[in-house]
Amino acid sequence: MSSNALFSPFSLKSLHLNNRVVMAPMTRSFSPNGVPGVDVAAYYRRRAEGQVGLILTEGTVVERPASSNDPNIPHFYGEQALAGWQHVVDEVHAGGGKLGPQLWHMGVMNEHRSGWTPAQPFEGPSGMVAPGVAKGNAMTENDITDTIAAFGRAAADAKRLGFDCLELHGAHGYLIDQFFWHGLNQRTDAYGGPDLTDRSRLAVELVREVRRQVGEDFVISLRLSQWKQQDYQVKLVHTPQEMETWLTPLAEAGVDIFHCSQRRFWEAEFENEGSDLNFAGWVKKLTGQATITVGSVGLSGEFLAGFAGEASVPNAQSLDELLRRLDRGDFDLVAVGRSLIVEPDWVTKIQQGRAKELKGFSREALGTLV
Ligand SMILES: Cc1cc2nc3c(=O)[nH]c(=O)nc-3n(C[C@H](O)[C@H](O)[C@H](O)COP(=O)(O)O)c2cc1C
Repeated sequence: MSSNALFSPFSLKSLHLNNRVVMAPMTRSFSPNGVPGVDVAAYYRRRAEGQVGLILTEGTVVERPASSNDPNIPHFYGEQALAGWQHVVDEVHAGGGKLGPQLWHMGVMNEHRSGWTPAQPFEGPSGMVAPGVAKGNAMTENDITDTIAAFGRAAADAKRLGFDCLELHGAHGYLIDQFFWHGLNQRTDAYGGPDLTDRSRLAVELVREVRRQVGEDFVISLRLSQWKQQDYQVKLVHTPQEMETWLTPLAEAGVDIFHCSQRRFWEAEFENEGSDLNFAGWVKKLTGQATITVGSVGLSGEFLAGFAGEASVPNAQSLDELLRRLDRGDFDLVAVGRSLIVEPDWVTKIQQGRAKELKGFSREALGTLV
């Protein structure tokens, strides 16, 4: 199948990309004390030189006392960390690429396997790490206000440092998603409630503040997932109508791109709608906003099994299916994760029809920055 659609340019507001391939945000834990160094900058530059259209950085945490559970995950605050990010921006731009940081607050987490813990207890909507499992503090309204302000400062810094856009991590059972999810959000104030619209208030206020900080022309992406790391089967919404009710206020608040995280992009989002549209397909159809799809593009197995040790091999059929959906206009952009960890030149190889040379992914690849 022709990959022309994948290699057509994309423009939205001030963001102009040469092609439709996005590097998915991937935590690498190579930033000691939260500071990304020259090795991290060189790693991202190699992906820019390898023709990735848009690089989304690994999740990088905002300024709250317990926004991270890992001291090697980069901060997006403080002089040293921001100087490190400035160097990343400069390197990626020198390599011809475009870059957005993924701004992150983890919410209530389990301790990292190293045993490291933040200076203060983890925080989330109701202090739970999984339904019924207490592990941290329920956030006060002051905590929430301060968290929104921290995201706002990070967004302003992203623009000041010369990033091309930004992404908010609202997926996978981290803080923003913990508010969406009734299983973890049992609040009885204005940030909780029986309706998803109530539980979306934090996200809506946060997007509004980020928009206020970056202005109209700077692209804001919001990453969302139905699945949670705590429970792969959970769904926040079960019908297109519920999905529209959930996402419309977020689009109105200022989201330009919905980054729709699935573990396998070819899976239909709704079983009873007689449609093979995936998550990104439905979100684009219902909101009219641009979307990014993701999940095992070009690979045989999905990423959480990959963490557990399952190796993945390149899979040309899944690429054909991706191109069919992209050609049909289901989504605008395609994020690639693990393949870009093992292969900085993944895009170039696809473009040059050298798919046979592509490498598979195994967990050992996480040990180094290739
Ligand atoms: C090592 C690793 C780290 C990840 N870290 C993040 C992260 O920081 N933020 C995020 O939104 N997703 C993260 N993900 C999920 C990826 O962005 C992506 O959605 C997932 O790997 C599926 O894409 P793939 O099948 O092409 O690998 C991570 C995935 C991997 C493999």
